[in-house]
Amino acid sequence: MQETSSKIIPDNKRIGIELENVSFSYGDTKIFESLSFSVPEDEIWAVVARSGAGKTTLLHLISGLFIPKYGIITVNGRKPGPGSIRGVVFQDESLLGWLNIEENVLFHSASHEDIVNRDLARKMLDAVGLADRYTEYPHEFSAGMRKRAEFARALLADDEYILADEPFGTVDALTRRELWRLWLNLRQDEPRTGVLCTHDPEEAIRLCDEVVTFSLQQPTTLSHNIHVPESVKNLDAYSENSDLRDLKQMVIESL
Ligand SMILES: Nc1ncnc2c1ncn2[C@@H]1O[C@H](COP(=O)(O)OP(=O)(O)OP(=O)(O)O)[C@@H](O)[C@H]1O
Ligand SMILES: [Mg+2]
Repeated sequence: MQETSSKIIPDNKRIGIELENVSFSYGDTKIFESLSFSVPEDEIWAVVARSGAGKTTLLHLISGLFIPKYGIITVNGRKPGPGSIRGVVFQDESLLGWLNIEENVLFHSASHEDIVNRDLARKMLDAVGLADRYTEYPHEFSAGMRKRAEFARALLADDEYILADEPFGTVDALTRRELWRLWLNLRQDEPRTGVLCTHDPEEAIRLCDEVVTFSLQQPTTLSHNIHVPESVKNLDAYSENSDLRDLKQMVIESL
């Protein structure tokens, strides 16, 4: 049975990921000071900030790879540790060179041998545009293709949490929109809780429920929380409307 250790927040949703007064430094360089926010269960929040603001550091903290100097981080009510979130797309490449793409994509799912899972992995690879390349190795792919495979692995991970660090940074603009659509469809079928870091205000707004922006100065603190209304969430990955344009402007101005 799933433990129900996460707290309740006012609108009756449970907290999935919580940061309470988190401070973190590399040596003497303070990156975060008293950073707090809570991502409710089944929501994915975007963090939009300029290069060097601390997005990757934040995801390393949430995934338990780094420990805060002060403050508390919980994921589903527990302190995270390395490997506690398996649905991760890191900014640096993290495919295993000795496994083929299909084996890589299956790495974090329940059973590597399971034929049903293999079928799912192939469907996911097809969905990210890597059909029929299942038995090739990471070095045989372009950087954008490797990123797509990592994205497929995170979506297939046996985990209700997801952390994604610029998952489409190396992907061309057309493919990126197809992957946005895939992300939106999958979220509809299977809700996830998580954080997506990006430089792209439009990606943040289209893919997430709330957009958090960081202040420019370091140590970084939270600058704005911008809620994404249903009128934008229901947009197809290729359509535009005035709410989307206004929100984009709001995010850009808050950076
Ligand atoms: N291992 C490290 N040791 C010392 N300083 C570091 C280390 N990793 C990152 N930093 C510093 O921490 C700050 C935040 O880096 P981080 O990689 O988290 O930024 P980012 O927002 O992810 O940037 P980008 O958008 O370019 O990926 C930067 O000033 C960087 O120089
Ligand atoms: Mg980064």
